[in-house]
Amino acid sequence: MNEHPAATSAFWRARWAAGQIAFHLATPNPSLLKHWPSLGAGHEVLVPLCGKSNDLAWLAGQGHAVTGVELAAEACAAFFAEHGLEPTVSAEGRFTRWNAGAVTILQGDFFDLDGTFDAVWDRAALIALPPALRERYAAQVRARVRGPMLLVSFLYDGTRRDGPPFPVPDDEVRRLYPDAREIERVTVDEERWNEVGGAEEVVWRT
Ligand SMILES: C[S@@+](CC[C@H](N)C(=O)[O-])C[C@H]1O[C@@H](n2cnc3c(N)ncnc32)[C@H](O)[C@@H]1O
Repeated sequence: MNEHPAATSAFWRARWAAGQIAFHLATPNPSLLKHWPSLGAGHEVLVPLCGKSNDLAWLAGQGHAVTGVELAAEACAAFFAEHGLEPTVSAEGRFTRWNAGAVTILQGDFFDLDGTFDAVWDRAALIALPPALRERYAAQVRARVRGPMLLVSFLYDGTRRDGPPFPVPDDEVRRLYPDAREIERVTVDEERWNEVGGAEEVVWRT
């Protein structure tokens, strides 16, 4: 089977190098702000495929020790620079570890991650991966996290546009995470999605 380019590190590195990061939000994700407090998450939070998300800083501000995992060095450097932080950079197994205060970004492949965390925040991580990789991704999340997850999935007519982001049907979310329950469904109000018949975000928790 031919691999979708979004399954490769070269695809994502090229995106960061070209500044093609339309997924990045200038402020913390509204669903995180709204639903994280009711999750009852423990101290150590995992943010897979974190990019340079402002969510890392917001979670640290809530008192968590936050570990993001990200392939692209540009993303790691940008996160700390944009938050006025001087990271300590060191080697840690197969990763390069960037740390300042309560935020650590492990630069490397999420599938190489070991260890366990108390909770996970998944925004634009599951939906960034093509169908053939999602089973393996979810198994890795389930293995690494011993507590609740807050997940935002994405839905649109996949015959009208190629991912990423990929549409992930509700029944697939339930199959990957049998304990997941839907807590909110939000219509995406953006022109580029109206052009392909609209899109929805679904917020899930375990
Ligand atoms: C769609 S972006 C979302 C970033 C972030 N979650 C956000 O909300 O802004 C997906 C990110 O995952 C990273 N990525 C893709 N595959 C990865 C992998 N196997 N391990 C670590 N990071 C990966 C990409 O470089 C990219 O920054």
